[in-house]
Amino acid sequence: VKKTLTVAIAGLGTVGSGVIKILESKMESIERKTNTRLVITAVSARDKTRKRSVDLSSFKWVDDAETLAADPAINVIVELIGGADGAALRLCENALKNGKHVVTANKALIAKHGVYLSQLAEENNVTLAFEAAVAGGAPVIKMLREGLSANNFARIYGIMNGTCNYILTTMQATGRDFKDVLDEAQKLGYAEADPSFDIDGIDTAHKLAILASLAYGCPVNMDALFIEGITRITTTDIHYAAELGFKIKLLGICEMTANGLLQRVHPCMIPVTNAIACVDGVYNAVVLEGDSVGRLMLEGRGAGESPTASAVVADLIDIACNRFTYPFSVPANALQPAKNASIDSHNGAYYIRLTVIDRPGVLSDITQALSTEHISVESFLQKGAKSDGNVQIIITTHDTSEKSMSTAVKQINSFPWAVEPATLIRIFK
Ligand SMILES: NC(=O)c1ccc[n+]([C@@H]2O[C@H](COP(=O)([O-])OP(=O)(O)OC[C@H]3O[C@@H](n4cnc5c(N)ncnc54)[C@H](OP(=O)(O)O)[C@@H]3O)[C@@H](O)[C@H]2O)c1
Repeated sequence: VKKTLTVAIAGLGTVGSGVIKILESKMESIERKTNTRLVITAVSARDKTRKRSVDLSSFKWVDDAETLAADPAINVIVELIGGADGAALRLCENALKNGKHVVTANKALIAKHGVYLSQLAEENNVTLAFEAAVAGGAPVIKMLREGLSANNFARIYGIMNGTCNYILTTMQATGRDFKDVLDEAQKLGYAEADPSFDIDGIDTAHKLAILASLAYGCPVNMDALFIEGITRITTTDIHYAAELGFKIKLLGICEMTANGLLQRVHPCMIPVTNAIACVDGVYNAVVLEGDSVGRLMLEGRGAGESPTASAVVADLIDIACNRFTYPFSVPANALQPAKNASIDSHNGAYYIRLTVIDRPGVLSDITQALSTEHISVESFLQKGAKSDGNVQIIITTHDTSEKSMSTAVKQINSFPWAVEPATLIRIFK
């Protein structure tokens, strides 16, 4: 006899509609895999009258999504509302307390309250699953928590925001500037009306913090992250990057360093020979460096209706099959705060672009500022005088510490010949 798993879907936007489409179109194959019939019993969103891409007439409509948490007829809540707090949090919290499984795609919620929700899930013997929260359709959480669970990780890094990757790729391909490409991305629906979470690096930070928790067994800690977005990236830098053999990408990187766990999100100059430099457009990719397995890269669509819904439905299938894992790999109360390293302790190479007044003595000032901080230059480019009399100087350095670099840049910015503050981009190796 087939079992039944009753599912309520809260939030019927991009992802919610995608989940309904997959559950309906793949009902038979899901039943064969799980010996369970997944039945959508109720749905909820803000506006009942809104026209949707799915037919909702056979489902019970609920005006207040939060009431789903108390409905005894429901086994699983699929939370696709979004937002770190508010209705999404209250729904998930109460559902878990009432012994319902919860599946969510909400990275903001998991980054802020994931450990607490995980505790609730464990106390109530139910599942909290959030595969879709990181890298959308690419099952990186499952890979980290299950397939690679025998590993310690030296480093995990990735392109985890499709909007930023689309903007940077398009800037590179067309030579158009940031604002112009962002406007177009908003028109095409690749960027939100309020794009700040994406372009300021916050969305990548949420995802990175979740991966770091899974990989290093520590509670998610957003305060430990260094975050810098892509708004300062210009076509000039993209152009020089190409000349030097780099592409600029927004990376989220967590790594175990001599000073502790360093989690950072910022634009990087990546050598074009590195596989992740070739991940373009809306694609995401995560690279995991495990001590036993070596390096592994997972690339796929990090957002969009059906890739994200693919991950949500996979979580539902796990629940139907009674496949249980601790949400953060280990029991929530076994997570141990990490010793966090600050960005100041980061060691690496840098790209610096300076706009300077073309006059004698500039080069010796720059050399002096760098050598005082023991920074050695790897390459130096000077681009001829512009009509305004200014020149561009592009320097790449050998490895040095962030602290030395920022002291040197402060000094350089204070010279009277500096036309604008230096642009500093970290080189990724
Ligand atoms: N879009 C993606 O590609 C993607 C990828 C990965 C993860 N995610 C995550 O998935 C979640 C959903 O994203 P989405 O893109 O599908 O968002 P969306 O298209 O904006 O849809 C949000 C849905 O939530 C409903 N809603 C808003 N407030 C509500 C409330 N208080 N009670 C009940 N329903 C409410 C909205 O109702 P109305 O339709 O009536 O306005 C809408 O149907 C977010 O956490 C997001 O971060 C999205």
